Amino acid sequence: MKLPLKIAVVGCGGMGTGHVCAITGMGAYAEDAGITVYNAYMAGQVVTEPLDGKLELAGIYDIDPARMEWAASHGFHCYKDYDDMLADPDVDIILIALPNDLHKGHAIKAMRAGKHVLCEKPAMLSSQDMLDVIEVAKETGMVFYPRQNRRWDYDFVTIKEIFEKKLIGEVFDIESRVHGSNGIPGDWRHEKARGGGMMYDWGIHLLDRMLYMMEGYKLKTVFCRTRYATHDECDDGFTGIFVFENGPEWHVEVSTWNFEKLPLWYMCGEKGTVTIKDWSDMQGSMSVLTKFEDENLKPILAGEGLTKTMADRSTDSVTTTACPPVTVNRNELYLNLVDAINNGAELICKPEQTVRVLRLMEACFESSEKGIAVEFDK
Ligand SMILES: NC(=O)c1ccc[n+]([C@@H]2O[C@H](COP(=O)([O-])OP(=O)(O)OC[C@H]3O[C@@H](n4cnc5c(N)ncnc54)[C@H](O)[C@@H]3O)[C@@H](O)[C@H]2O)c1
Repeated sequence: MKLPLKIAVVGCGGMGTGHVCAITGMGAYAEDAGITVYNAYMAGQVVTEPLDGKLELAGIYDIDPARMEWAASHGFHCYKDYDDMLADPDVDIILIALPNDLHKGHAIKAMRAGKHVLCEKPAMLSSQDMLDVIEVAKETGMVFYPRQNRRWDYDFVTIKEIFEKKLIGEVFDIESRVHGSNGIPGDWRHEKARGGGMMYDWGIHLLDRMLYMMEGYKLKTVFCRTRYATHDECDDGFTGIFVFENGPEWHVEVSTWNFEKLPLWYMCGEKGTVTIKDWSDMQGSMSVLTKFEDENLKPILAGEGLTKTMADRSTDSVTTTACPPVTVNRNELYLNLVDAINNGAELICKPEQTVRVLRLMEACFESSEKGIAVEFDK
């Protein structure tokens, strides 16, 4: 057992910089850079367990000299190139924060050099690539950790808890989405060969969370439509319908061309409904039925017609509150990796789970291309 473990970051762009700041405790880099932060930790609802003595930055490498200058100006060690990083006997873990098409080659090379790997999402571009990498991890005895950090999003943890504790009874319908209005970011995400497009960018998060929450359920069918509102080569969004056996139906949507947003989450159960509208209000709202009969229900004049069916219930038959608070440790993923390397702890994000998510993304593309629903777990 070695503590602290030393981690080196290859690729120090947007995400790599985020890791460097989190690992070194530079912390509030986003706020300092004038970035609006929407996270429950701002309201003290999320803890950030210190990494001190457990994980330490060994250095960085980026092909862009400007990023190397940034690292040097903060006193971080800069490697000459990737080989130089792999040759450092002090380095235990390589953190890959490169464009998506570079993950596989860098991961295999690192494990063959005797380094563990923490890899940004999407860990790989296909389920077969992920299986190949799992083989190398087995051969070399190294840990490969796919970073599915959005399992720690406060809104997701809230939804998962309400679902599992049946706080709105048995759930039959879940909508999970992200809406933006800026199209695909103007970098390598525009190129299909580089793993561009929104299925790989955000789809991997939303589908990973769905499969993680629905572990143990059989996913029967997948129907998906990818969208090309702003781009011909790469999808700039998609809508998928996922039907689980004896479980809820999921509607998952990623879109980058919506100038008005629909809620992040909308979940319906036999006894209530939950909505989490946006990151600015992670606590959301939960309406729970207190009695089925509503003697005080009055019709409403809605548009050109009178309706009792669509009238709001009277307040004595339903209560609306904020969703119950949950506990989230923002550094749990890093600490789980350290524990897995030192003590063989079970990985929270497992490479085999990523194989399943990548298979699902492949099924989504197939469904969209053929215009049919695809069977998933046979
Ligand atoms: N988990 C998350 O929440 C999250 C969020 C954003 C990005 N990401 C992932 O992180 C990865 C990087 O995304 P990003 O937004 O930081 O991209 P980016 O373009 O901002 O950064 C990529 C960096 O890699 C460098 N680079 C490219 N080729 C290189 C090479 N051969 N050797 C060394 N450096 C090289 C570039 O110069 C750049 O600085 C992607 O896989 C992306 O999907 C994850």
